[in-house]
Amino acid sequence: MHTADVLTADHVVKVFGSGHTEVRAVDGVSVAMKRGELVLIMGPSGSGKTTLISMLGGLLRPTAGTIVVDGEDITALGERDLPRVRARKIGFVFQAFNLLDALTVEENILFPARLVRDGVSRAQARADQLIDRLALSKRRRALPQTLSGGEKQRVAIARALINAPPIILADEPTGNLDSANGQEVLMILHDVARDEGCAVILVTHDPRVEDIADRILWLEDGEFRDRKREHHAWARDPVCGMRVDEWTAAITTEHAGQRKVFCSKRCLERFEADPARYLAAQSTS
Ligand SMILES: Nc1ncnc2c1ncn2[C@@H]1O[C@H](COP(=O)(O)OP(=O)(O)O)[C@@H](O)[C@H]1O
Ligand SMILES: [Mg+2]
Repeated sequence: MHTADVLTADHVVKVFGSGHTEVRAVDGVSVAMKRGELVLIMGPSGSGKTTLISMLGGLLRPTAGTIVVDGEDITALGERDLPRVRARKIGFVFQAFNLLDALTVEENILFPARLVRDGVSRAQARADQLIDRLALSKRRRALPQTLSGGEKQRVAIARALINAPPIILADEPTGNLDSANGQEVLMILHDVARDEGCAVILVTHDPRVEDIADRILWLEDGEFRDRKREHHAWARDPVCGMRVDEWTAAITTEHAGQRKVFCSKRCLERFEADPARYLAAQSTS
């Protein structure tokens, strides 16, 4: 059973609106994933990545096509049964963390266990283990607003893992983090695929993950395209110096008629505060 596909999508389509305003956000995508696999989805802004990953996780219904999650056809499930499958089979990690402000770190991590039968009785030991593993022991009773971005995302990852789902879906989980915290979150997700035997699907613009991913799927205009690694057009983040793929870059600005790309919002903010400083540094390097 371990080698069987844990997630399959077959000719999945999502159309928003109709007539003049119709958008085919995802246009006939098929994919199959096994446990232990880390798969990247990369593509330009607006190419359908969030729409696709939302459908794979049962948060959004496809217009057409079939999605089978751990043996269960979620496209055939009614609204009443879908939350149960989501809670047991899928862990979500979002760019905006989506933690519950009024709950402590530990309570946030334990929250999804309430949605699963027998979940709560097993969850405490699992939470202790995850808190330890994700280096959150000192923040166990803290509220989300007192955490750093990196800590928030580690809490979100622990929460995603609490019910030991076979699938983890992460939509730009490093988008609100600085470079070092982003790197740490990516490595944790990589280790999760290996150690927990999860299928991890990661939407990211971060080229550093390409080396650790098992597969990269390039999405463009709602379809998977063949794209070779060599086709990268590398640019440098003028603030931190990290290489960024021009094609998929999400955080960009125009400066003196030139397009500048950034690894994170933080680097963009630093640049905008004092462009001359970073442009001078770039031209001498
Ligand atoms: N709820 C929605 N209603 C209408 N159009 C949408 C909706 N969600 C996404 N879209 C459109 O679908 C396309 C793909 O969006 P999205 O999946 O968010 O792309 P990405 O995550 O790659 O940036 C875009 O053209 C976007 O404007
Ligand atoms: Mg998106």
